[in-house]
Amino acid sequence: MPSDMTLEKHRVIAIDGPAASGKSSVSEKLSDHLGFLHVNSGIMYRAFAWSVLRSGIHAGDARAVVEHLHEIQMHCGVSGDKATVTVDGVDPGSELKSSEVNAGVSAVSQVLEVREVLVAKQREYLNVADIVMEGRDIGSVVFPETPYKFFIDASIEVRAQRRSKEGIIDDLAARDAIDSNRVVSPLVASDDAVVIDTSDMTIEEVLVEILDHLYHKGLNQLDEK
Ligand code: DC
Repeated sequence: MPSDMTLEKHRVIAIDGPAASGKSSVSEKLSDHLGFLHVNSGIMYRAFAWSVLRSGIHAGDARAVVEHLHEIQMHCGVSGDKATVTVDGVDPGSELKSSEVNAGVSAVSQVLEVREVLVAKQREYLNVADIVMEGRDIGSVVFPETPYKFFIDASIEVRAQRRSKEGIIDDLAARDAIDSNRVVSPLVASDDAVVIDTSDMTIEEVLVEILDHLYHKGLNQLDEK
């Protein structure tokens, strides 16, 4: 079904931005507030990177990465009100946030075939529910037709502080460089996205700003939980 037809059935709010910009926290709150399904597309890239690394493949070996893509079964679904991802029936769980996955995920995410497969899975969610989907290219590539697009940013210093508070080793500058400069679907704020710099904002303030924009764009308040 063409995506412009599915958009008539369900709505999608696109939340893009760099790592540790606060987009996950605000996407969770926003989806909860509106009763939409929260889908974190980064988790799909992480699950695939986890599988690649577990198989002993170097994340930078694009040929082996593509071969691996065709050997595995990745399932993206819904359980209760949560989006789920399994690879060959296994949920990688907390390993998705490991330093190894952090170090390898941007490399596998720049491979065209990987993006094609995962973008198709991301679009399928619109057949299921109204969604808040976060990522890097949701407003620019996955759902360019949606009127609801946000780009959540923060300074590199603030983002690094947020990560270190979580006790996670994550070379944000290295990931930013690959995610923003790759040839296919780089991290970019669409011209029609609302850009919010969260460096000096609380999650609640970001949520209020997003809701304000959504209502002005006509998202029906009666649809809230
Ligand atoms: O949002 P995150 O930091 O968990 O994403 C992990 C990586 O996945 C990110 O560094 C690049 C990739 N990614 C992507 O290429 N496109 C998306 N829509 C989401 C994530």
